[in-house]
Amino acid sequence: MAVYFLVKGKQRIKGRIMINGAKNSAVALLPAALLTEETVKIENLPQITDIDKLLDIMRALGASVSSPGDHSLCIDGANVNNYSPPGMLVNQLRASYYLMGSLLGRFGRVEIPMPGGCDLGPRPIDQHIKGFSAMGARVEMEHGLIKVLAKKLRGAHIYLDVVSVGATINIMLAAVKAEGKTIIENAAREPEIVDVANFLNAMGAQVRGAGTDVIKIQGVKKLYAVEHSVIPDRIEAGTFMIAAAATGGDVIVEGVIPKHLEPVTAKLKEVGVEVESGPDYLRVIGRENLSPCDVKTFPYPGFPTDLQPHMMVLLVKAPGISLVTENVFERRFCHIDELRKMGAQITLEGRTAIIEGGRELSSAPLQAMDLRGGAAFIIAALMAVGDTIINDVKYIDRGYERIEERFLEVGVNVQRIEELD
Ligand code: EPZ
Repeated sequence: MAVYFLVKGKQRIKGRIMINGAKNSAVALLPAALLTEETVKIENLPQITDIDKLLDIMRALGASVSSPGDHSLCIDGANVNNYSPPGMLVNQLRASYYLMGSLLGRFGRVEIPMPGGCDLGPRPIDQHIKGFSAMGARVEMEHGLIKVLAKKLRGAHIYLDVVSVGATINIMLAAVKAEGKTIIENAAREPEIVDVANFLNAMGAQVRGAGTDVIKIQGVKKLYAVEHSVIPDRIEAGTFMIAAAATGGDVIVEGVIPKHLEPVTAKLKEVGVEVESGPDYLRVIGRENLSPCDVKTFPYPGFPTDLQPHMMVLLVKAPGISLVTENVFERRFCHIDELRKMGAQITLEGRTAIIEGGRELSSAPLQAMDLRGGAAFIIAALMAVGDTIINDVKYIDRGYERIEERFLEVGVNVQRIEELD
């Protein structure tokens, strides 16, 4: 079945939207739940295909999953007795790599193929492996499987060569039940890492310093049942904030932690958009006259790479030259060719996109190639003259819950069309 979006151009978004739970927390919390044999309840989970796939893997490992409500799940990992997640499923999403840390922490071994995920250039996992090895695990690559085995995991002092969200969380997962103390230096500081640490601590772990670049984990013998609510998704919130700015709209994103969005708020103000901040909401009021600006992506609290494509689309509207430099992923620029089809003037020099803004976009058939690039196309389509088709919405569904319904909540028409091949 071919599934695509049809987006009417020249629409302004207007209204309020309650933000869902964070995908990048949720995909780590579920594997973390397997660190206990007791039942864990997680609320405010987004309904996205990455979560569906992760749950399929966890069921295949023996976990039982029930759903007491729309966005909540109970996970009972008592019967998990398998340390080898099925390759076909693991290949489909990046976050399956968190099963390395959690199964290693639980069983002292795991056998898993290289994880899949969006193609953003090379995405090695050497820092994850370095962490596990430092803790005493033997790591081998055999028949396409990464085999990690530890008779006993011991706390270690680990200095990450690159600031990595995945490696920081994965080492945390392996370390919570290891013997002794683990110290992660040059750790990533993303809010999702703090959420995972809070979850683990509520289960009885002793993780200190999450949210700073040094995390200390004192191993404990056992973890217990817990109920936890996922933090709001700063990237979903940022998507609607930038959409409001790009369409000259007016939107209130509710249920957010404004601090998490400061790098985005600051850039929106720099381009001349009005942003009001409340205790748990942000209001963005678009303006017709935008100024160009330079954006450099960095690990948190820098400007998030996950909003780089959206920001680039916004800057197409700002007359003058803007520069967007992608410092986190080597090749997160698949969206540029498609935006050019719409009339955007963007050239790429190394890791910097040079945008000659101030031109009107016109509709074109677009091909989503990754999650965030795909979402940014919806914003471009709303700005454009004419009706745009966005193919392969499966990429967008990985990380945004029914995004067309969310856009409808803020008054714009994004139609999901399903056609038999
Ligand atoms: C997480 O990816 C997110 N994914 C990404 O979300 C996000 O873009 C990224 O962090 C950065 O914020 C999940 O949380 C599931 P990294 P991750 O390890 O963990 C290099 C989205 O759209 N690196 O922080 O894979 C790596 O190549 C996405 O929601 C190594 O060299 O990212 C990259 O250049 C996609 N060796 C940089 O570090 C390693 O062992 C940061 O990657 C690990 C990473």
